[in-house]
Amino acid sequence: MIEKVKDILNDIAGFKASTQQELEEFRLKFISKKSVVSDLFNELKNIPNEQKRELGPKLNAVKQAAQDKFKALIDGLNDTPSSSSSDQLDLTLPPAESEPGSAHPLSIVRAKIIEIFERIGFNVSDGPEIDDDFHNFTALNFPENHPAREMQDTFFIERNPDILLRTHTSNVQVRLMKNNNPPLRSIMPGRVFRNEAISARAHCVFHQVEGLYVDENVSFADLKQTVYHFVKEMFGKDTQLRFRPSYFPFTEPSAEIDISCQICKGDGCQLCKYTGWVEIAGSGMVDPNVLSNCGIDPEKYTGFAFGMGIERITQLKYRVNDLRLYTENDVRFLKQFRTAQ
Ligand code: DAH
Repeated sequence: MIEKVKDILNDIAGFKASTQQELEEFRLKFISKKSVVSDLFNELKNIPNEQKRELGPKLNAVKQAAQDKFKALIDGLNDTPSSSSSDQLDLTLPPAESEPGSAHPLSIVRAKIIEIFERIGFNVSDGPEIDDDFHNFTALNFPENHPAREMQDTFFIERNPDILLRTHTSNVQVRLMKNNNPPLRSIMPGRVFRNEAISARAHCVFHQVEGLYVDENVSFADLKQTVYHFVKEMFGKDTQLRFRPSYFPFTEPSAEIDISCQICKGDGCQLCKYTGWVEIAGSGMVDPNVLSNCGIDPEKYTGFAFGMGIERITQLKYRVNDLRLYTENDVRFLKQFRTAQ
């Protein structure tokens, strides 16, 4: 009898149940009225009294062990996701809807700008966001201590006033001219940084696209025609264009480029400050000093350059009136560009 008790205890300890059916097997074998444990208690009736005293507690322990194990097996089954969820899994339910993502409006507009310029022979160039004073300022004809440097509130890298976050994509022009021989025809999209307080109209991080064309006999007429082509492609045939004389250290002559306001179509509104025109870019003929700073012979070559803000183009195209929307990642804003192109 003692041997039997030991065997049953071993069987209980070693039993494993991974399905409801195995759990039921355990119940029938060790817990039910017809179980081996019940049989032991029945046998106990026919055993002499003095042995009963010894065996009784042992049988009670077996009964307890069977009940404890049964509880543990139930808990184990409930913790197993496959079996518990298989009871609740309804394969006929329609799947949860998966929402398609959308490209960021700035990415959509950047891609469109690239596409327009690639079609007329421009390639795409890239340059560093962290750069030195030479590439961001000096090579571009910003004299030392010139107030124009202060106009672009620069973020300097601590302890080294020579290293900074680029304030414009014009730094890529410099690298391009230094490392390649004309003819050069390239656009340079990228992130730029200025130490500005964040508001609806200003941000410390924004995006520009720089354009550069250097070759023999490049003229201001080429600049005008190229920008004219871009504006018609981006905003439509009826868009008006004007060049306004301006100043940049790296171009001579320089011009700011305005287009007819896309919101009011020239009638006057808040965005165009009731002028009917909105500025989209700075531009000009590359200053001969910049060409020679970059190792290009200004007697032989001329070039034009321009720089425009991607946020501004996006604002005009999609009427986004608060710059902060671009960086907040609010899906209610982003979702609206799902079908945009
Ligand atoms: N770098 C100027 C800015 O950030 C924009 C610019 C103006 C770029 C004239 C040019 C240019 O290439 O020719 O305000």
